[in-house]
Amino acid sequence: MNVPLMDVRAQYGPLRGEIDAAIADVLDTGRFILGPNVAALEEEIGRELGGRHCVGVANGTDALVIALNALDVGPGDEVITTPYTFYATAEAIARMGATPVFVDVRPDDFCIDPAQVEARITPKTKALLPVHIFGHPADIPALREIADRHGLPVIEDAAQAYGASLNGTPVGALGDIATFSFFPTKNLPGIGDGGMVVCADPDVAARVKRLRFHGSRDKVVFEEVGYNSRLDDLQAAVIRIFLRHVHAWNDGRRAAASAYAEAGLGEHLSLPVERDGARHIYHLYMARCGDRDAVQKALSDGDVANAVYYGIPMHLQPVFAHLGYREGDLPVAEEAARTVLALPMHPHLTAEQAAHVVNTLVQAREAVG
Ligand SMILES: Cc1ncc(COP(=O)(O)O)c(C=O)c1O
Repeated sequence: MNVPLMDVRAQYGPLRGEIDAAIADVLDTGRFILGPNVAALEEEIGRELGGRHCVGVANGTDALVIALNALDVGPGDEVITTPYTFYATAEAIARMGATPVFVDVRPDDFCIDPAQVEARITPKTKALLPVHIFGHPADIPALREIADRHGLPVIEDAAQAYGASLNGTPVGALGDIATFSFFPTKNLPGIGDGGMVVCADPDVAARVKRLRFHGSRDKVVFEEVGYNSRLDDLQAAVIRIFLRHVHAWNDGRRAAASAYAEAGLGEHLSLPVERDGARHIYHLYMARCGDRDAVQKALSDGDVANAVYYGIPMHLQPVFAHLGYREGDLPVAEEAARTVLALPMHPHLTAEQAAHVVNTLVQAREAVG
């Protein structure tokens, strides 16, 4: 049995007729840029997030850059974030000319540790940028309390976590601004690049809207230097279909996580944790391994796909060498980078596949003796 890491086609295959029809509709209207599907998707996601204001943009990285820009983050500013994330989070901060300040993560959920944040706030701090990494919600209420004491906004990088929630509130509605990515392997995907900025404040949303279109409201008057970063209508039409399925898909991911636990995976690896009050949607299923190289070899030999996310934490990346971090500075993130492995995870992963993953590890262990 071959178990893939993700299975994007299994997800959209059954919806192919609906997708084809939606694409044909867009072709019929001929409105490709900021057409009716973008407005409808913004409205639909806004409704799911309790009335937040949504603005579709070209991808999740632009969503972060534009969100930071809308909060006037720029040269000389610092933004506190996590070292254990995809590079885009930190890159967006640097792209605005600001400095990412990396704070270590918690060992259980891999999200930024609120207990370590306050000590890193300086007069230059302009925002907190936590990430709901792998689909587990970051502790935004704890961060919010610190941010409020210092008058700082909280930006959620929710690229990996559509439909995750904390104490019943969905990610995207926990902070001041949130960003999503619709990259095709995300849990709420598109069929190409796409992203969304979600704002609590309508004035910030209006600025984000202006920024995505060259800093103009009307293509006539240009008020500031902006971007050409729009979600296109073909993407939006397809994402609207996927939005109707994303919660069932998230349930499928959670069922797959349960199947791993029931098959006994926890006897071999440390399984991902779901904190009290958190709803994890397992965008990636990340398990800690004693000897990761040996586990990887055993799985690969047994045709079980696996992958390392994020092998080098951000504070040790060459691009940030000038910031002066050293190995050992952020030990929890560094340990995660050394030991954590992504196992197959998608909404349609079966109990048989989960059992096969576990059996592959059992057989490898028996072969070694
Ligand atoms: C945590 C995180 N932030 C930001 C991004 C950037 O999104 P995109 O690839 O749509 O630019 C991604 C995904 O790639 C991500 O995983």
